[in-house]
Amino acid sequence: MSEVTAIAHPNFALVKYWGKADSVSNKPAMSSISLTIDALTSTTNISKNQGSSENIWILNGEEQNDLARINPVLKYLNNISRNNYGCIIKSGNNFPTSAGLASSASGIASLVIAYNQLFRLDMSFDQLVEASMLGSGSAPRSLLGGFVILNVENELYSQTILEPEDWPLSIIICITDDKEKIISSREGMEISRKTSPFYQSWLDTNKGDIQIAKSAIAEQDIKKLGEVTEKNCYLMHQVMRTSSPQINYMTERTNNCIEEIKEIRKDGIELFFTVDAGPQVKIVCKPEDKELIKDRLINKPYVTKLVEANIGNGARVIDEG
Ligand code: PMV
Repeated sequence: MSEVTAIAHPNFALVKYWGKADSVSNKPAMSSISLTIDALTSTTNISKNQGSSENIWILNGEEQNDLARINPVLKYLNNISRNNYGCIIKSGNNFPTSAGLASSASGIASLVIAYNQLFRLDMSFDQLVEASMLGSGSAPRSLLGGFVILNVENELYSQTILEPEDWPLSIIICITDDKEKIISSREGMEISRKTSPFYQSWLDTNKGDIQIAKSAIAEQDIKKLGEVTEKNCYLMHQVMRTSSPQINYMTERTNNCIEEIKEIRKDGIELFFTVDAGPQVKIVCKPEDKELIKDRLINKPYVTKLVEANIGNGARVIDEG
């Protein structure tokens, strides 16, 4: 086999992580629960760089000079495959890169899955988790579909807690600005861990929020899941804002969007939102309310684009030859 192509979808967290436990393994300091998003896709094709030890990474058609994000992942994988040659990696996203849409999670998850197949490594799932975590703390969640937990308490594991078809909620992503973020999540987390006075309370609330989210998902209670998701999101952004230097991914457009979502909720529609390391607003709602919510947001000056999605599946190989 000379090349393999794999795809993975980004995920966004309902209970988030912001802060690392360890910079070598890149392990998050707290557990998280996410949804895998089917409409957004990272596609990665990998082949061996025959006769050369150089790794080449082409992202969205452009050769990358800085391979810092993928090098630790490749090192881990090369150790298992005993490969001394380089790899040629061609990756593309069908959505804005580095704009708070978790492109690194899906990019890394698709890379790990493609490499595993190219070298026929038959890696254990724990190894796939470890390898992808080296590239992005949220990447192990993109290995799987549905509602996914990345647990770091006592034991490290990533697991689907509910399959997509068991609670088929709809997702609407409000793109308010698709420019690349100024400060990477990795840098931002480190600043927050060291400087935010709210960092400790953020850590302390994680266990409780995970428990509430888990039970809301088991009960398929959208109101309960929405309350814990929004509370968790606000606290993470408070940790960011109280860091020094201040980190602010939410813009006026983000806030306008949130205000409209709250108005829609006042009209009796069950929906909730979350925001990550970028200005986009992700909405979760019942499929029957999707059209009405889109109608309320589509012509707003602060919304550039609406992307509709469903809860998606995990990373997988789509082509080999
Ligand atoms: O692991 P990264 O670098 O993709 O950072 C993820 C950070 C957040 O999206 C803000 C939170 C999360 O749990 O996804």
